[in-house]
Amino acid sequence: MLFFTLLLAFIWILAADRGQHWTYEGPHGQDHWSATYPECGGNAQSPIDIQTDSVTFDPELPALQPRGYDQPGTEPLDLHNNGHTVQLSLPPTLYLEGFPRRYVAAQLHLHWGQKGSPGGSEHQLNGEATAAELHIVHYDSDSYHNLSEAAQRPQGLVVLGIFIEVGETMNPAYEHILNYLHEIRHKDRKTSVPPFNVRELLPTQLEQFFRYNGSLTTPPCYQSVLWTVFHQRVQISKGQLEKLQETLFSTEEDPSKLLVQNYRAPQPLNHRSVFASFIQVGSLYTTGEMLGLGVGILVGCLCLLLAVYFIARKIRKKRLRNPKSVVFTSARARATTEA
Ligand SMILES: *[C@@H]1O[C@H](CO)[C@@H](O)[C@H](O)[C@H]1NC(C)=O
Ligand SMILES: *[C@@H]1O[C@H](CO)[C@@H](O)[C@H](O)[C@H]1NC(C)=O
Repeated sequence: MLFFTLLLAFIWILAADRGQHWTYEGPHGQDHWSATYPECGGNAQSPIDIQTDSVTFDPELPALQPRGYDQPGTEPLDLHNNGHTVQLSLPPTLYLEGFPRRYVAAQLHLHWGQKGSPGGSEHQLNGEATAAELHIVHYDSDSYHNLSEAAQRPQGLVVLGIFIEVGETMNPAYEHILNYLHEIRHKDRKTSVPPFNVRELLPTQLEQFFRYNGSLTTPPCYQSVLWTVFHQRVQISKGQLEKLQETLFSTEEDPSKLLVQNYRAPQPLNHRSVFASFIQVGSLYTTGEMLGLGVGILVGCLCLLLAVYFIARKIRKKRLRNPKSVVFTSARARATTEA
């Protein structure tokens, strides 16, 4: 009897482990996810490569407004190395406006590459990846009790995707996470971090974004995510990126394996539409630049018109004045002779 109980326990552990074990490369890598997690082989998967010349401008897309992001509260936040990423839990006092229902925040996490290699973001823009990507995960709290319930329903989740690239200066907002990585170097380690202004992790311009229906980018790859990927990027320093690439391990104990290149390759679009909240001509001009160009051309034309008008008036005046002066001179001449 004890033997059977032990055997059952062993099989159960084995099965549970098989269900949970996945990696980015190797025999459990992303090409094999769909064998264990069928939805990973679905036709509306994320991430995608956003091709700006095939997006659809949608002027009806409402502005997206993060609420409570800049009021961090007083409760510390959980920071967790789950072996696949570093994840920060977020309280439901953070939520999004600009959707038909209320989406409250649950967690944020990062995807990155490897020191010395290009790439690291999951989404791409015209075939180009950036160094890393931030995902802020929200669920529809009007319709569902919690994240796990919403994660399996169409449009149950809203995820914000933020492209991260390397810039000249240190980004202090990201230090609220990066400063604590050394406390959670191994898989399953957790720590608490002081609350901070999460809005500062986002780009300054939230008006320009792409929107499409997709999935979780990790198993079980549920196709329940309404994605918002911002056009404007945020910048962190080279040192900050290297801290992300070199501090965490994907394993619990030695031999330690660095947690790197935790990004999924772009998935086929399969007739899905990608909408944009802004107009972009050949990916060269933003709406602001287009507006600037338009105003510039208008002002230019106006100046030209004014110039032509004044020159024409001057010429006409000259023509009118010349005969008059002739008359005047002759009149004066006459007056002189008469005197
Ligand atoms: C989520 O909500 C469902 C339905 O109320 C419940 O059965 C489940 O235990 C909850 N899960 C978590 C992780 O709280
Ligand atoms: C996502 O899918 C739903 C249901 O099919 C559809 O109503 C909605 O317009 C889609 N949204 C986008 C951004 O494609």
